[in-house]
Amino acid sequence: MNHLTEQPDNAAAANTTGLGYNRVAIALHWLLAIGLIYQLALGLWMEGIPKTPTGLRAEWFNWHKSVGLVLGLLIVLRGLWRLTHARPQLPQAMSRWQQRVAGTSHALLYACMLGMPLSGFLGSSLTPYPIKFFGTQLPRLWQANSDLKALLGCVHAGASYVFMTVLALHVAAAFWHALRRDGVFLRMWHASQAAPNPKA
Ligand code: HEM
Ligand code: HEM
Repeated sequence: MNHLTEQPDNAAAANTTGLGYNRVAIALHWLLAIGLIYQLALGLWMEGIPKTPTGLRAEWFNWHKSVGLVLGLLIVLRGLWRLTHARPQLPQAMSRWQQRVAGTSHALLYACMLGMPLSGFLGSSLTPYPIKFFGTQLPRLWQANSDLKALLGCVHAGASYVFMTVLALHVAAAFWHALRRDGVFLRMWHASQAAPNPKA
């Protein structure tokens, strides 16, 4: 593999199309990868902060909520990018089931990426505590409701656990592509001219 020109050099790679990701998609992918892994670790860690005295736990919860809302916005931008651009093709050397697993796992990642901030926000908006976005109190949208809050808390934790499982598979698949040197791993590092708008 010539890493500078991103020219694949084996038989499997010969069938890779020239389509890839542009700079916007690559920047959003890695920004969100770092942000979401941080946010997952933060969410799991903060659950262990003792409830008394209340200050420290509330501070970290508010930090988690603020970071989560920013990530939610980036996820919406990323979703819009995905909806307005063609999906780069996978190498033809990959079997049908492999291509299907790739498509399904990406769809699941997107579903969790949307579900996590949404359930976090809705659940938090149903507690008696106001959401503080980096210190600024957001307006209350509706009355507190402990039953609904508990349900959304389960959705939030559940989506996070599904996400972590699919992410482990995703990272393993990324390294599998790197070992095969079929061009798929590197196309999330080097921008391509292609990734055309299907509506153009
Ligand atoms: C929270 C972390 C991550 C999320 C949410 C995520 C999500 C995604 C999604 C949804 C795609 C499909 C691209 C699209 O259609 O928009 C993708 C592609 C890709 N990701 Fe990740 N990813 C994460 C972390 C990683 C990591 C840690 C690696 C490498 C070690 C990686 C390597 C790749 C590669 C190589 C592709 C290109 C696959 C292809 O072209 O089909 N990702 N990622
Ligand atoms: C953007 C992605 C997000 C990720 C990956 C994420 C991840 C997590 C994780 C892993 C936990 C621990 C779950 C458990 O073990 O029970 C958690 C808890 C929590 N998250 Fe998030 N979160 C995100 C966004 C948000 C947002 C936007 C809010 C609110 C505005 C939020 C509010 C909360 C709250 C309040 C808890 C504690 C739940 C409880 O103890 O009942 N999260 N989050």
